[in-house]
Amino acid sequence: MNQSHSDSLVFFGATGDLAYKKIFPSLQAMVKRGTLDVPVVCVAKSGWNIDQLRARVQDSLEKHGGLDRAAFDKLCSLLHYIDGDYMEMETFQSIRRELGSAERPAHYLAIPPALFGQVVERLGQAGCAKGGRVVVEKPFGTDLESAQALNLILLGTFKEKEIFRIDHYLGKRPVYSMLYNRFSNSFLEPFFNRNSVESVQITMAEDFGVQGRGAFYDKTGAIRDVVQNHLFQILTNLAMEPPVRMDSESIRDEKVKVLKAVPPVEARHLVRGQFRGYLSEKGVSPESKTETFASLRLHIDSWRWQGVPFYIRAGKCLPVTCTEVLIRLRKPPAVIPGAKLTSNYLRFRISPDVTVAVGMLSRSPDEMTGEPVELIASQHPRANEMDAYERVLGDAMSGDRTLFAREDYIEEAWRIVDPVLRADTPVHEYEPGTWGPAPATPVIAPAGGWHVPVLTLSTTSHDTVRAA
Ligand code: BG6
Repeated sequence: MNQSHSDSLVFFGATGDLAYKKIFPSLQAMVKRGTLDVPVVCVAKSGWNIDQLRARVQDSLEKHGGLDRAAFDKLCSLLHYIDGDYMEMETFQSIRRELGSAERPAHYLAIPPALFGQVVERLGQAGCAKGGRVVVEKPFGTDLESAQALNLILLGTFKEKEIFRIDHYLGKRPVYSMLYNRFSNSFLEPFFNRNSVESVQITMAEDFGVQGRGAFYDKTGAIRDVVQNHLFQILTNLAMEPPVRMDSESIRDEKVKVLKAVPPVEARHLVRGQFRGYLSEKGVSPESKTETFASLRLHIDSWRWQGVPFYIRAGKCLPVTCTEVLIRLRKPPAVIPGAKLTSNYLRFRISPDVTVAVGMLSRSPDEMTGEPVELIASQHPRANEMDAYERVLGDAMSGDRTLFAREDYIEEAWRIVDPVLRADTPVHEYEPGTWGPAPATPVIAPAGGWHVPVLTLSTTSHDTVRAA
């Protein structure tokens, strides 16, 4: 273990939903891969003991990804459990005792942000923060002001370089691979700018609703839940300049520069929707105006991108579950008589499969007309592929900050959406299983229309490169 690697993991919120669905499966995967071999001190206020926690971990693994007996046994041997109130100093004194000789704990806060302040402060008072780092879950604030307040709280106990703000999208291979794909292929660069790009679309569609998270979602909405964080991360990876060095700060500097060049979204460039039936979800107010769909347009006033509209749309209960980017190029001049030209494009699919595709026109065999074809490079998830949470937790413990949001990044992201979040724009109802409310199309539509993701690829584990 290198000197900056955490020598223990303190896991607040260990009996919660995120722990059950995502974190224990990731911890088991880390054990299996050999990247987790330190005590894991689980903390919660559930009135449980260690045996109940182990039973819950077993259940979590059986339901989410599968239990590996050897890795599970090893994980159980690393687990400790402290049942305690986050308000009580005694809980934090117990954590310090349980940490024993550990000097570099990573404190992972998978708890409601309203509790961050008291937990972080008490970690400091109990001597648990020294030499350690803190890993915090999204949402990071609910607007610019609350994010600034949260940063102040964290910075009262930890230094910026010890704070790891999670956005699990950054741990997804196709998201962080965007930088590699962009900066290791020379053919892309000449057209990756305002001279050739007509528009960029980012779609995050989910064919399910709020899945029992109504109480959380109703206070959040699509813009706060996925646009300000996950989709802005995709945007900045797509639009950033090549970093001058490949260290975490050089990369994060370039991402912040992109956001600095984005003016706040205007209310006339936003359409909000709510799927029919949302108001009867558990935990949702019957008068709720929370959006479960948002489509918006923004601009990047930089040398590279000025004048190119970027469209983002995200929603629940849409026809498919798919996250995809479409970069549409300007049409060539129409010099061929009668030819109906369509735009070339570049397509990056992030999920469910990983695809990079180039769309072009090819002349039909018999006539002077074109057929759209795609050159597809597709990589399906591989067996043993790291899940996003395994990657980000592993990186946090080894001290690599590249895949985490920095303070200035978070604040810039909130600056962009804050005014429209306060603008009280109308919410239009849409039918589940459709592409959102009708006004989304005429008001916020790229020239040439929204691209509709089609899920046709089989899910073999092979990589394919083919013309389709
Ligand atoms: C979470 C959101 O951050 O990301 C959810 O709170 C959303 O609403 C989820 O469904 C999507 O993540 P993934 O990894 O399942 O695509």
